[in-house]
Amino acid sequence: MVAALAGCGTQDVVPEREAADALARGEEVYLDHCVGCHGVAGDGRGPAATRLLTKPRDFRQGTFKFHSTSPGALPTDEDLIRVTTLGIPYTSMQPYADLPLRDRAAVVQYVKTFSSRWRSSGARVSLPPPPEPADARTRQGVEKGRAAYGRAMCKQCHGVAGDAKGVLAHALIDDWGDHTNPADFTLGMFKSGPRRADAVRTIMTGLNGTAMASFADVLDEGEAWYLVAYLRSFARPIETREHLAALLLARDYPDAFARHVGEPTPEAARALALRGSDIDAEKQCMKCHSVGSMQARRSNDWHVAHFADPRSVVPLSRMPAFPSLLDENGTPNADGLATIAYIQATALPNPRNVDSE
Ligand code: HEC
Ligand code: HEC
Ligand code: HEC
Repeated sequence: MVAALAGCGTQDVVPEREAADALARGEEVYLDHCVGCHGVAGDGRGPAATRLLTKPRDFRQGTFKFHSTSPGALPTDEDLIRVTTLGIPYTSMQPYADLPLRDRAAVVQYVKTFSSRWRSSGARVSLPPPPEPADARTRQGVEKGRAAYGRAMCKQCHGVAGDAKGVLAHALIDDWGDHTNPADFTLGMFKSGPRRADAVRTIMTGLNGTAMASFADVLDEGEAWYLVAYLRSFARPIETREHLAALLLARDYPDAFARHVGEPTPEAARALALRGSDIDAEKQCMKCHSVGSMQARRSNDWHVAHFADPRSVVPLSRMPAFPSLLDENGTPNADGLATIAYIQATALPNPRNVDSE
């Protein structure tokens, strides 16, 4: 049994022997699944890293974005296991839900060895979320959220329309020295998790290392729930998976998309995915894949890294590389965009069915 899971978000007491076994197992899991991106040294510089738009975490600083603890504090083991299990949607950090829980818990212990910050940390305690006000999911709740959004200046980064086009959006550099886009709420995009409670947690605790600070001191009790109701109201209607796939491609590779496809309209999206299915046939992807077998949720940049060098993201992959889908800078070309659109249209959750909890 893994004692690390027993504690409720507090410092975990693990017998020494079990801890040593877990670390050894954690190292194996890490080398099998994580090194391509996070690197053997935990520095976020694995072979895939240069091709990824959102850079893999450098574990050496001991700064973690998604945490239920107080602003700036290290996450709990449960926080790290949650990220490993669910992945970080719309980034190449994929879900590892199909690894046994014991392995996910073990790899998390191993990840903690890369930074000395863990040794000097005090108790790591999850802050309880504020209770949800009874009117949070009503029309008035959304209106209260609109007022709080204006007062707390969320628009400076996330934009008046929630489309990530605030005046500060271009200037946001994170603690690892990379540019980070604010969340674009029009895509219904939530990296920190699909539930309202996940977004509430983010607003209360902030995302460490990024410009997304904690707003706990600025907001009245329960106001975070109103804000989340308002954030959700920004989501634009997305009719089909093809359309969602095109919108995300246009966001990730704006220049290439504008050049090869144009505007990400529903019609253009349908044509692009159809073209992708033709390329699939031309390149004989079906020699190895059966229809609908490319099902896992992956980000666009994951596919780019995979086409360029499959083993950089899947260490024992036997898939050949497909450099013909990329231009000389490693950006997807017309065929690459179409192929990814086709894959994503079958793999992304159908927007009509996306969780509405
Ligand atoms: C294909 C690339 C890729 C692989 C493989 C990968 N990751 Fe990640 N990981 C990322 C990226 C990219 C991020 C940063 C996402 C962000 O900052 O939004 C990340 C972030 C993380 C974080 C930090 C979360 C936080 O709160 O800051 C943890 C923990 C993590 N990964 C664990 C793992 C583990 C464990 C494995 C192997 C089981 C793994 N990753 C495999 C790409 C990858
Ligand atoms: C100074 C800029 C800035 C301000 C002001 C700001 N944010 Fe953010 N916010 C960000 C950035 C940057 C991210 C994305 C961080 C990342 O993905 O690593 C983010 C992410 C988020 C997320 C997480 C979305 C997800 O994908 O899970 C939520 C929720 C959020 N912000 C809500 C708010 C609210 C509500 C306000 C106002 C109370 C606000 N933000 C103010 C910069 C800002
Ligand atoms: C020679 C056999 C072969 C051919 C040809 C091939 N693949 Fe693959 N593909 C594999 C194998 C094996 C895997 C599993 C290992 C991996 O993920 O790299 C895979 C995995 C994938 C995945 C990841 C699936 C997931 O979600 O885990 C995608 C996407 C993919 N292939 C797309 C393509 C496309 C697009 C083509 C044609 C341009 C193609 N493949 C051609 C063998 C092949």
